Amino acid sequence: MQIFLDTANIEEIRKAAKLGIIRGVTTNPSLVAKEGSSDLKGVIQEIASIVDGPISAEVLSQTPEEMIKEAEEISSWSPSIAVKIPVSAAGLEATSALSPKGIKVNMTLCFSVNQAILAAAAGAAFVSPFVGRLDDIGHNGMEIVSDIVEVLKTYQYPTRVIAASIRHPLHCVLAAKAGAHIATVPYKVLIQMIEHPLTEKGISRFAADWQQVGHG
Ligand code: E4P
Repeated sequence: MQIFLDTANIEEIRKAAKLGIIRGVTTNPSLVAKEGSSDLKGVIQEIASIVDGPISAEVLSQTPEEMIKEAEEISSWSPSIAVKIPVSAAGLEATSALSPKGIKVNMTLCFSVNQAILAAAAGAAFVSPFVGRLDDIGHNGMEIVSDIVEVLKTYQYPTRVIAASIRHPLHCVLAAKAGAHIATVPYKVLIQMIEHPLTEKGISRFAADWQQVGHG
């Protein structure tokens, strides 16, 4: 399973990129707004200069025609762009028009297996089921990820499944077990994935034992 970073915070992206394990970045309008910037193009181009791999930037238009126009503009910002388009009737129409032109679409705000089937049929490069938001309303978000992976595999759709709306490290484990191709994780969760108290304890003990025999 690949790890994408789910943030528009440049400092977090720089720090995470240094680890060498980040294969892409997802943003959304809320994440960009949180950073206090209205310059989506500037933010996305800066992210693309830091991370090799797909960078998701979302359209805000409502009609298929406007979505197509906005997606074409966004995809011209960098060769690594994946345009985020919601799974709606307008979004499916736009994705069906954009995919044959080679524009990568990440169909977002996916909450069901049916929506994922339609996203794949429209030629989306990625589909993003939102695990945490499903859990929030009493559903089992990860079960939907697992079902989507199974169904897209059965019909050999090349659409890659991004487990999104990841809230804690256990979500990452479950996404991997569910067969998600990608998990997009907030920076805080990435750090939680790395850290373990026994690793910290072990590092301290090795250093202390080594010092006792006259080193350091
Ligand atoms: C990813 O593509 C989404 O933008 C993100 O994971 C949404 O997460 P949230 O439900 O925590 O806002």
